[in-house]
Amino acid sequence: MSKNLTSKAFTLGVCYYPEHWDESLWADDFRRMKEMGFSIVRVGEFAWSIFEPEEGRFEFALFDRALDLAHAHGLQVIMGTPTATPPAWLTHKHPEVLNANQDGLLYQHGMRAHHNYNSPVYLDYCARIVRTMAEHYRDHPAIVGWQIDNELNCEIDVYYSESDHRAFRVWLQEKYGTLAKLNEAWGTVFWNQTYSEWDQVHLTRRTTANSPNPHLALDEKRFVSASAIRYAKVQADILREIAPHHWVTTNGLFGNLDSHRLTDEMLDFFSYDSYPLFYSIFGDGAEEEPLKDRKWSLNLSVVRDISENFCVMEQQAGPGGWVNRLQLPSPLPGQIRLWTYQSILHGADMILYFRWRTATVGTELYWHGINDYHNQPNRRIREITEIGAELKRIGERLVGRTYKAEVAMLDDYDNEWDAKLDTFYGNLRGQSTSAWFKQLQRRHIPMNRVKFRDTTTLEDLTRYRVLIYPHPAILTESRAKLLEAYAAQGGTLIFGARTGYKDETGRCYMMPFPGYAAALCGIHVEEFTLIAGEAKPAIVRMTGQVERTFEAIGFNEVLSVRSQSATVEAVYDSAYYAGTPALTRNRYGAGEVWYYGAAFSIAAVGAILDLLQLESPVVSWCAVPKQVELGVRMASDGSELVYLLNYAEEAMEIQLEHPCMELLTNEELHGTASIPAFGVMILERR
Ligand code: GAL
Repeated sequence: MSKNLTSKAFTLGVCYYPEHWDESLWADDFRRMKEMGFSIVRVGEFAWSIFEPEEGRFEFALFDRALDLAHAHGLQVIMGTPTATPPAWLTHKHPEVLNANQDGLLYQHGMRAHHNYNSPVYLDYCARIVRTMAEHYRDHPAIVGWQIDNELNCEIDVYYSESDHRAFRVWLQEKYGTLAKLNEAWGTVFWNQTYSEWDQVHLTRRTTANSPNPHLALDEKRFVSASAIRYAKVQADILREIAPHHWVTTNGLFGNLDSHRLTDEMLDFFSYDSYPLFYSIFGDGAEEEPLKDRKWSLNLSVVRDISENFCVMEQQAGPGGWVNRLQLPSPLPGQIRLWTYQSILHGADMILYFRWRTATVGTELYWHGINDYHNQPNRRIREITEIGAELKRIGERLVGRTYKAEVAMLDDYDNEWDAKLDTFYGNLRGQSTSAWFKQLQRRHIPMNRVKFRDTTTLEDLTRYRVLIYPHPAILTESRAKLLEAYAAQGGTLIFGARTGYKDETGRCYMMPFPGYAAALCGIHVEEFTLIAGEAKPAIVRMTGQVERTFEAIGFNEVLSVRSQSATVEAVYDSAYYAGTPALTRNRYGAGEVWYYGAAFSIAAVGAILDLLQLESPVVSWCAVPKQVELGVRMASDGSELVYLLNYAEEAMEIQLEHPCMELLTNEELHGTASIPAFGVMILERR
C-alpha cells in the first residue's frame, strides 16, 4: 500500500525564502501569491543559522513574522528542517560532522549537504534544532506539514567520514554476525582480501585500478540507504511526537536511497522535485529518438510507485543555472504549464514552483524563479497565473485519482545499485528502460513502474497484464517463485539479457542462465558475448507473423530452447551464432514469458509490442499523434479523465469519435480538434 497525499482541492504554491529578502517585500509577495492562486509556501529548509545563530541560542523572530504575515494573507506553510546546511559554527567546532571523500579528505563548509549521516554529534545537533523548531511551531496556525532536510543524497550519495566507516562495521556486524560470514559473502578469498579483525573493514577506499570488491560496493550502497533512512527517522520521530497534527514528507529522488522504505517507515507521502529541462544536461540528448522533457514522465512514474498521489515540492518555473554549472535555457512559452500538467497526470495533487523570485546572491543567482530580480510582471508570472486560475476552477476534479495502466516495468534497488559498479550488465538497463518507455509513450500505452521489494505480493503484480523486467542480474529463488505465480495465473512477463545469474550478494550462481528464471522462460543461455570491440551487434530476424530485422544491441546471448512450451520468435541472422534463437516465448500456466538475449532497442520493443497487440486504452474513440502523451486518471467511482499533453512546438490534431468535454476550456469537442504547441487537454467522454 503506498502512502498518499490526501486532499480535496488541488494545492498550488511556491518555495519562498523570506530570509533572502528585505522585509518590506514580504507583504507584496504574499499578496501576489494569493492573486496567482497559490495557497501554500515552503520555507526554512536552509535557514539553520537564522534559527540558531550560535550554538544553543535560538531565534524565531524573523520566521515568526514571515509566518504570521503568510497566515494573514491566507497562505499555509510547509516548514523545512534546515539540516541539509549545517552552520559554520557547528562544522568549525565539530569537523567530524562533515562528509569526506574516499581518501578521507573532508568536504568543507561553503556549499550544502556537506555533512555525513552517521556522526553521533551531528545527529544530536539535528535532533535539537528539529525539536526546538517543532516545539516553537507546533501551534502556529499557518503550518500544515514538514519537509525533512532537503533532497537526501542529492549533492552527493557516498559517505566516507570516520563515523561512516565505524557505523558501517556495526551495520555489517548486525547483518553478518561473524567475520567468517562477511568474508564468505564478499568472496574475500579472491585476491587475498580476507579480513581477520573488524577494524580492517572499511567502506570502499581508493584501490589500485580504482576497482573495489563488488560485493562490498553493493553492501556500501545498502548501508548508505540505511544511514539516510535512520538519519531522517531521528527527525521524523521528533516531529511525530511533538506535532502529530502535521504531515511529514521529504523531497527528491536520488541515488543509493530506498525511497520506498523511507516513505513507508516515516512519511505521510513522498515529494518530488521536477526539473524537466535537465534532459539537456543529464538527459538523453545523444540517444535514439530522444523524448527530452517528456522523459520526466518516466521519473514521475517512479514517484507514483512510492506515493500514488504525491507532492511536487519544486516544479521548474524558469531557466536554470548555478554560477558555474547546471545551466539551462528558458522554458518556452507554454512549457511551464505543460510540465505542471505532466506532474498532475502522473499523480501530483500538490505542486509548488521553485522559486518565488530569482536569488540576487549566491550559487544559484541564475536559477530563475517565477519573478525576476526586478520584480516586475513577466511572461512566467502570466503563465503561472493562468495555471492558478485553471486549477482553482477544476482542481477538485483532478485530485485523488489513480493512474490507469495495464503494463508495468519492474526494477529493484539491488540491481539498480549493483549495476552502478557492474557495467557488464549495468549499461543495458538505461538503454532498455528508455526503449520500452519511448515505444509505450509513442503508442499511447500507459505504463507504471513497480519496485520489486521483499514486501511485494502477488496481488501487486497481478494488477498488470504485462510486466517488463529488463535485466535483473540479481534474482533470488523466492522472487522467481513470485514471478512464476504471476505468469501461471495469466500474466505476460518479459526479460532481457543477463537475467538471473547473481544472488543477493552479487555472487554468480553455478547454474545455467537465466538461473531461477530458466524454468519460467523455458530456455538456457548457451553462450554469450558482450557487444564491444570486434563483437558487433548481430542482426535479429523475426520468424513469425511480424516480419522484421533489427540489431541485437549491447549483449548477445545464444538461447537454447529447453521446454516444449517455448517457441522461437526471432533468430540471429549474422555472426557465428546465425540461426540460433534470440527471442523466445514460453507458455507458462495461463500466461507467457518472453526472453530476449540482448538489450532492448526501440525496434526490438516495437516488434514485441506488435506481437502482443497492446494498444492505447482509448484506441476505439481517440486518435492522437505520437508527439502527444496520453494518460488516463481514474476516480474511485470508475470515472476517467484522459490527459493529452503536446510536447511539440507546433499544434497537433486529434480525432474524437465520441463527444467529449474538455475541462480546461469547458468546451464540448467532437471530431477533429487541435491541441496548440505545448498545449494540454483533459477530456471527459460524454
Ligand atoms: C533542487 C534543490 C533546490 C535548488 C534547485 C535548483 O535540487 O532542492 O534547493 O537548489 O534544485 O538548483
